Amino acid sequence: MRKKNKAEMGNTHSRATLADALVIFGVTGDLAHKMIFPALYAMAKRGVLNVPVVGVAASKWSLAQLRKRATDSIKQTGKIDDRDALDHLLSLLQYVDGDYNDLGTFKALKQALGDARHPTHYLAVPPALFATVIKGLGAAGLADQARVIVEKPFGRDLASARELNRIALSVFAEDSIFRIDHYLGKKAIMNILYFRFANSFLEPIWNRNYVASVQITLAEDFGVKGRGAFYESAGCLRDVIQNHLFQIVALLAMEPPACQGFGAVHNEKAKVFQAMRPLKPDDVVCGQYAGYRKEPGVTKGSNVETFCALRLFIDSWRWEGVPWYLRSGKCLAATAAEVLVELKPPPQRLFDDSAPVDGRANYLRFRLSPNSAVVLAARVKRAGKEFVGDQRELYFLYEQPGEEAPYERLLVDAMAGDGALFTREDAVEAAWAVVDPVLDMHRRVHVYKPGSWGPKQADALIAADGSWHNPILVKATK
Ligand code: BG6
Repeated sequence: MRKKNKAEMGNTHSRATLADALVIFGVTGDLAHKMIFPALYAMAKRGVLNVPVVGVAASKWSLAQLRKRATDSIKQTGKIDDRDALDHLLSLLQYVDGDYNDLGTFKALKQALGDARHPTHYLAVPPALFATVIKGLGAAGLADQARVIVEKPFGRDLASARELNRIALSVFAEDSIFRIDHYLGKKAIMNILYFRFANSFLEPIWNRNYVASVQITLAEDFGVKGRGAFYESAGCLRDVIQNHLFQIVALLAMEPPACQGFGAVHNEKAKVFQAMRPLKPDDVVCGQYAGYRKEPGVTKGSNVETFCALRLFIDSWRWEGVPWYLRSGKCLAATAAEVLVELKPPPQRLFDDSAPVDGRANYLRFRLSPNSAVVLAARVKRAGKEFVGDQRELYFLYEQPGEEAPYERLLVDAMAGDGALFTREDAVEAAWAVVDPVLDMHRRVHVYKPGSWGPKQADALIAADGSWHNPILVKATK
């Protein structure tokens, strides 16, 4: 691979400057509680958090209340095992109260930031407020030489994503905008990129000639967990498929980057989204778990999907004709995420038991969570005279859970101006363009039993190419 010089790699301008303050809009909210404080604590423990952390919200809190909230969050999501790190984090906190529609709030923030010249602003607020806060930052002169982190969902369809990009780019440069998809911060997902391009044995078979189909499942065995109102406005397709699962598809399907550096990876990923065929109603099956309509915040006759399965095609030279099946749902039989790349069977059946008679053809399996694994399945002969065998899994990697939380990694990267693990404007819009045709269609949700693998209609969707692979909790046979 050709090495690029620094100027060609993208994000280099801002990479040099480390943030000298972190601003968290929505600091009293759920995201800060569940994800951001634990990430800040982890950073403090590693000694990499040494700038003021200014929380902004309209909750009329005192600094003491904010400190208590941070402490509670860390206790509830893990444990306090480093008192000095906690004290350090608490000593960095400041609080600014005010309405985001009021320029006075941003002026107060400016004052709180004092000498800081390169703040990173984290928008941990409901999506409806993204544009308001970005405009406020611009109007108060708080965007120059600053960066902004925007949580998902980035838009709720193609038009709103375009509009949000337009507003964000009128205030910040593209390399100062960090669109979060926390799946990109997961080690097992980074390993897809590494495994594909650090090896050469895969490339000859990684195409339409050898790959029969690809499946990705993101299953959760719990419901909306009190996020009914959010789910009503999102649904599974918007919540996890257009972003998390599509990012996985892009890493699996992309062409080799032309050179080192993440600018080249972003280019190739964007091309995958551009080559995806826009979805048609027949490509999508939606389900809803029995009992969803009784969840707090959910309307009685809700037609929102808590399960979604779809068939996708990538109209590229490499993937022409290969179906990609994606599936995700709440209240399914397990909590696990897995990719299965199924290869075509041998052209001739020389042995009676050759696949797929007794199961699947050879495959490559990427286990993404709760543990990570990279597994190749191939048939081997049993002992004895007969030419019969079994499909065996060879583990290249098997890791138990316990990875660095994606939010910590992403926060550190954004504050250092490294956009490698964030999504780019063109890619986000191209991904929305794929799902846009089916977002507002009048769809029927098929009710499924909690603890199952979703509605049976999803089995019919894949039937022409086999069956769903249900990830299970297995132990490696070393
Ligand atoms: C979030 C979705 O983006 O991702 C949630 O809003 C989903 O609904 C979650 O549960 C899954 O992330 P993870 O890291 O737990 O697999």
